[in-house]
Amino acid sequence: MTNPLPIQFQQTDLDALEAFSGRIALLVAPDDNVARSPAARRLNRLSKGALNRFLDSEAWGKVKPGEATDLAWPAGLAAEALQVVKAGPRADVATARKAGASIGKSAGKAGVLVLAGSMQRAAEVSFGLALRAYEFEPHKTAEPTVRGPVIIMVKEPDAVAAEAKPMAAVAEGVFFTRDLVNEPANVLTTDDFAARLAAMQALGLEVEILEEADLAKLGMGALLGVGQGSESPSKVVVMHWNGGGDEAPFALVGKGVVFDTGGISIKPAGGMEDMTMDMGGAGVVSGVMRTLALRRAKANVVGLVGLVENMPDGRAQRPGDVVKSMKGDTIEVINTDAEGRLVLADVLWYAQERFKPVGMINLATLTGAIIIALGHENTGVFSNDDGLCDAFLKACKAEGEGAWRMPMGDAYDAKLKSRIADMMNVGGRDGGAITAAQFLKRFVKDDVPWCHLDIAGTALVKADTTLAPKGATGWGVMALDRLIRDKFEG
Ligand code: BES
Ligand code: MN
Ligand code: ZN
Repeated sequence: MTNPLPIQFQQTDLDALEAFSGRIALLVAPDDNVARSPAARRLNRLSKGALNRFLDSEAWGKVKPGEATDLAWPAGLAAEALQVVKAGPRADVATARKAGASIGKSAGKAGVLVLAGSMQRAAEVSFGLALRAYEFEPHKTAEPTVRGPVIIMVKEPDAVAAEAKPMAAVAEGVFFTRDLVNEPANVLTTDDFAARLAAMQALGLEVEILEEADLAKLGMGALLGVGQGSESPSKVVVMHWNGGGDEAPFALVGKGVVFDTGGISIKPAGGMEDMTMDMGGAGVVSGVMRTLALRRAKANVVGLVGLVENMPDGRAQRPGDVVKSMKGDTIEVINTDAEGRLVLADVLWYAQERFKPVGMINLATLTGAIIIALGHENTGVFSNDDGLCDAFLKACKAEGEGAWRMPMGDAYDAKLKSRIADMMNVGGRDGGAITAAQFLKRFVKDDVPWCHLDIAGTALVKADTTLAPKGATGWGVMALDRLIRDKFEG
């Protein structure tokens, strides 16, 4: 997998600045128009006043908090660049991460020396730096990008390093998710996905793989119908992290459609290549489980992913077919492209029957309709429980991950009524993200607090974001990890 670049914390050493040959990143408070910190004054002196001329300029005034400007090939320094980053000693979490991202984005071969001085949130700078330095390169034949060492100089390196350690576990979880979502479907088959999850046993996770015969025995006709046209076998993978004693676990459930052609209700060719990301929900669940294991979380969490491929074939499911779910309800499959809900119906039911979870969150790249509603800035959140939903939205806010609650209700549910079965798998074009959520709700027990997260717009984006280059974002790993910390480890 893609590994976050290693970051070291050291005591500030002003005498190291002159000869350092990589990039030097200096954090400067927004209202400073002259070099003030010891490191800034030394750099100003070495650069023969260039730093002060910059800080006094209109250009510095226009730099936004967390953003940066390069003074390239500065005279008097061996460095490639002196990067002046706008972030003061009391910058908030978002600004500290953004400042780190500005540094991580341009980190190169020769390494970076970050002068964070007495900044309170230096650990958050390291987190933003690591996240933004991500690159997905396994399929480029050119030499992989090597980034030199990153050294962050601070007043109290040991304290900052301790604070940064669990954040590094989150960054690794985010990278695991991004790699899975970026991976093409000829590589990330259901078998390959399951093998990558099984490999996490080395981290202390318990990983079980249910094969098609097991799923048939359990009665998962809805999930199996989706995968029956594929050469890749359908699977459910269960990951257990037991860090919290004997209590019932919290459950995370992910849609893992490794490729979604639409099936017999085939999608148009334009943009179909993006459907390699249709396992995004399963990717986030997997990334969170990795983070929990890496930071030895004191919580019981079970992660379940339904891995299938939706293909057209002689054996594929047809529009009009009726399948029977594990719950026992029958479903008329009007559109084979509304497959994610069929997969989730059975995995949600199985999770509740087997684990009696204290709460449950599922993630899925479920509908194009949620992109029409919310664009790429916010995940659609649907819930049967205000307590869980508010706690999750709060975690999203704290982590800077966009999320917006959507309505539910009986009138939407009524659109799923079928003439010949217990329900149809689609409810028409209008309110498409909501009728999809209503479908899932039919497979959630009333007394189980539950959220459904439709991440179709947020799992993969076409432009760089603050903390990620374009492509897979890993949206949700940070917020879910925080929710688990706040709810079970407080
Ligand atoms: N995987 C798609 C949803 C999707 C669309 C994800 C765009 C990411 C980007 C899902 O399986 C799907 O095809 N949904 C259909 C449902 C419809 C047939 C009711 C859709 O949204 O068009
Ligand atoms: Mn589909
Ligand atoms: Zn899909």
